[in-house]
Order: sequence, then C-alpha cells, then structure tokens
Amino acid sequence: MQIGLLGFGTVGRGVYEIIAGREDIAIARVLCRRDLELPDAAVTHNFEDILNDPKIDTVVEAIGGLHPAYEYVRSAILAGKNVATANKALIATCFDELIPLAREKGVFLRCTASVGGGIGWLSELERARRIETIHHVGGIMNGTCNYILDSMTRLKLGYSEALKQAQALGYAEADPTTDVEGIDTWHKLIVSANIGFGVSLDISEVPAAGISRIGAEDVANFSANGLVCKLVSTADCLSGNYSAYVQPTLYPLGQPEAAVPANYNLITLEGNISGRQSFFGQGAGRYPTAYNVVQDCVDFLHGKGFYTAPGRKVAIDNSVKLRYYVRTAQEDLWLKENTEKHWAGAVVTKPVEVSVMHQWLKAHPDAFMAAFA
Ligand code: HSE
Repeated sequence: MQIGLLGFGTVGRGVYEIIAGREDIAIARVLCRRDLELPDAAVTHNFEDILNDPKIDTVVEAIGGLHPAYEYVRSAILAGKNVATANKALIATCFDELIPLAREKGVFLRCTASVGGGIGWLSELERARRIETIHHVGGIMNGTCNYILDSMTRLKLGYSEALKQAQALGYAEADPTTDVEGIDTWHKLIVSANIGFGVSLDISEVPAAGISRIGAEDVANFSANGLVCKLVSTADCLSGNYSAYVQPTLYPLGQPEAAVPANYNLITLEGNISGRQSFFGQGAGRYPTAYNVVQDCVDFLHGKGFYTAPGRKVAIDNSVKLRYYVRTAQEDLWLKENTEKHWAGAVVTKPVEVSVMHQWLKAHPDAFMAAFA
C-alpha cells in the first residue's frame, strides 16, 4: 500500500512514525504547509501531487476540519483511492454523501480514529451489529473535556489552566471551542449512532451543550454532594423512537464514568444480545489516534471498507425527562416553576424534557447546566 498523507501535525506525524519500517505499507508523499524534509517520503505543498500520483492507492486525511478536508477526500475517492481519516466533523456532516460515493467508486473508507481515539470503538460497534440490535450508544467521547473536568475536580485547577494543559498535551482541536462547547462530542455521537443504529441522523436536530461555563463553584457543589461532572453523549433507539443529545452529566462517585481520568474516554453500547459493553482508552493524543488510523489502513489490506451501509433518515424526539443542576445569575420564571430544591448558588430542577432544557440554555448564555445521570 502506498499512502498519500495529508497533514503532518499531531496525528499525521504519529501515522508517519507508526508506519516507518513496515513492509506492507509505505508513505509515498506527505502534504504539509511547512517546509519539511523526510528521509523516505516526498513532501509537497500541493494536494494535486498526491491526487495525480498513480502509485498512491490510499489517502490518509489528518488535517481535520471540514474544509479543505472535504474537497480532498471527495477528490481522492473520485480518483479511485481509499481513504482513512480521523475527521469526525467530516464524517458526521458528509455521511450521506461520502459513504455511498466510496461504495459507488469501489474504494474503501474508514474512520475508526474519529471516535474514541485509540479505542477500537467503531470497529467493535460494527462487530456488535453483525449479530444484535443496538439500542444505546454514548459516553465520554472527548479527551480534552475529560482532562479539564478531571483536573478541576481532582487537582482543583481553574478552567483556563486545565484547558491550556490539554492544549499543550495535543488533546485539543486547533480551535478548542469545538471541544469545550461539545461540538466534537456531537460529531462523534452522530457517527456512532449512524453506525450503531444503521440510520442517518439529522445533525441539526441533535442538541449539544458544553462545559465552557463551568466554574469552581459548580465543581465544589458537585464534590459536596458526592458527584462528578463529565461531558457525555447519549443516543437511544427505543421502540423505533430515536433520542440523541450531548450534555454535562453528573455521576455519583463509584460509577465507572465518575472514575475516568485525564484524556481517557469511556464509551458504551447496549445491545439486545450482549447487553451493556463499555470501551475504555485514550480518546485523544498523537499515538492513540494515529494507531487507529493505521489500523484502518491494515483493514484495507484485508479488504475491509466502511462499517455499514448508510441507513434511512430518522427524526429525533428528545422528550425524555431528566433532572438538571442549573446555575444562572438571572431571575427566570420557568426555572422558578421547575425548581425542586436549591444548592449553594444553583438549583436542582424537577424532571424536565431534554429538548426544553436545551432550548432554555440557548436563551440563557450565562447559565451552566448539568443533567443527573
Ligand atoms: N479534541 C479531541 C478530544 C481529539 O479531545 O477528544 C480526539 O478526537
């Protein structure tokens, strides 16, 4: 296999290092904005050099973001090249287009590293669905947010300091807003639900709330009540009804989610035969992520393409009711009517619909909320 590697940042460099010395896979060319010299691969600033190189049969996309990743991946597929990518934004957004296109062109497309970094989550999801119906996928899917929340809880770090450390360790996206506002988790949930349920969710119908407004006072409130806050994704398929959302969630100490440290992820599926299975590992960082990109390339050598055929479009119904912790400086009638009890500077709501809580949060940009698991 001859690879054209797009990007030589955190993930691209890791892919290059893991592949070096392998006999079955070689990196022929690297697309990189910087001037770079590599002993065993040509470096170019021009994607066309990779696209038009007939000996390159596989493109590894490690530049992230939607553009120009979308244009590059689409062109590579149209040119008859396999694609391995860690790009969840791309796969979540272009699921309905890129997967059928790869099938039509008879090339392989895989994105195992796009959810869970080094965990074989999507590949196990694929295996699960061969023999069972999956009715739940979700969990802790963002290493940056977990690192921040864990540092705030265990080490009593401030939010900004914890974020800076996560960035320095190479966990965060180029723009950390994507991580801390739950967008990265949102993309990962869409990819997981589409593959696990065999459907195509409308990404715009899935609400996502992040952790950027959490403060030390919230963490103190949670600790005082034996709770730990995590950013969690949830998608359920029950009796043909689909719900999906991303939100900060409170777990009692002693629950597996409460104990997830640093940049680790804990992702769970529930199926009608195997029951509940959880997958734990490093969800971000150079080598964990590059590991699964290279696994995808090896899968291509074994003739394995995408996990499942794209399914039908389904609507989301988030009328399920949960109790929430809410902190806001504003007086609010709806919140007053739905308050069950007060916690230092915050309230705990009665059970309210997930969709209603997320709508309320959008209208209250100062507020922080977290659901009780
Ligand atoms: N920024 C992502 C995270 C990288 O922190 O989980 C892996 O997708």
